Amino acid sequence: MEFTGTQLIPARRAAVWAALNDPAMLQRCIQGCEQFEFTGPSEWQAVVLAAVGPVKARFTGSVQLLDIEPLVGYRLKGEGQGGVAGFGKLEARVRLCDEAGDTRLDYTAQAQVGGKLAQIGSRLVAGVAQKMADQFFSCFTALLSGGATAFAPAAREVDDGVTSAGLARVQLTVNGRAVERQVDSRTLLVDFLRKDLGLTGTHVGCDTTQCGACTVNLDGMAVKSCTVLAAQASGGAVTTIEGLAPVGGLHALQQAFNRCHALQCGFCTPGMIMAADGLLRSGCMVDDASIERALEGNLCRCTGYVHIFEAVKEAAHALGAPTHRETTA
Ligand code: FES
Ligand code: FES
Repeated sequence: MEFTGTQLIPARRAAVWAALNDPAMLQRCIQGCEQFEFTGPSEWQAVVLAAVGPVKARFTGSVQLLDIEPLVGYRLKGEGQGGVAGFGKLEARVRLCDEAGDTRLDYTAQAQVGGKLAQIGSRLVAGVAQKMADQFFSCFTALLSGGATAFAPAAREVDDGVTSAGLARVQLTVNGRAVERQVDSRTLLVDFLRKDLGLTGTHVGCDTTQCGACTVNLDGMAVKSCTVLAAQASGGAVTTIEGLAPVGGLHALQQAFNRCHALQCGFCTPGMIMAADGLLRSGCMVDDASIERALEGNLCRCTGYVHIFEAVKEAAHALGAPTHRETTA
């Protein structure tokens, strides 16, 4: 079955595009959506409680974004399993364009159902699907225009006023890509990166700001992302371990850690590398003393530090950073 629709949204195209890529926003607009989380850069896991006629079931499935054209549109492909109720598949195309200062959103979608759902009759299923789509876009439009609508739990919280005063809009450039999300103002940068953006290479090894596993580069400096609020970082540029090297390649530090056996379990490694990267970018002389200072906030529980020091020096040499030979610590 196929259904289509158009919405005129009183917001700029950049804001609409950001909202279409914001899992928290999407969760609020999908009726019955209990969970909507990043599992990869363009992939989400969703749990939706849906009722179609007499069949009510919890659907768990994945949603993928394909053919992404920033600010213009994407193709969305989703598939969910509802146990004995059957399954549902959805493929949709969303396109944006400017219209008199607002944004026009056009969508076409094809849905397919199987199992018990298919026995209900395609007219009823198509009616429910069209209704869900209409509800999604009217909620989406209301939220973008500053109105509050309540479908998912997050939206209910806003309506109840429990968190409405504590929300913050965060705009960042992460690994060269502009992102914008509305989050609880208490969200730590590390949680924003891991949970909102799915960048799980940044680790959490403590809750006392001691281990350094969460180190990222913020505006050119190595920082522990568990000590910075996402809202504080807003407007800045973040590089995580995922964005250190060009796609498909390894940074000189990653190559050197590999060659020098500077890791065992690897848990501390992203933080070690991002902290070492801060030193190499600083232009300071790279020697035992400066490496010690740069890595003093990073703990490794299994490798020891000799090989890590060697790796940082090797990378510094490879990158032409100022060095002079000293014994390792
Ligand atoms: S998670 Fe340990 S210092 Fe940030
Ligand atoms: S390699 Fe295991 S904690 Fe450092």
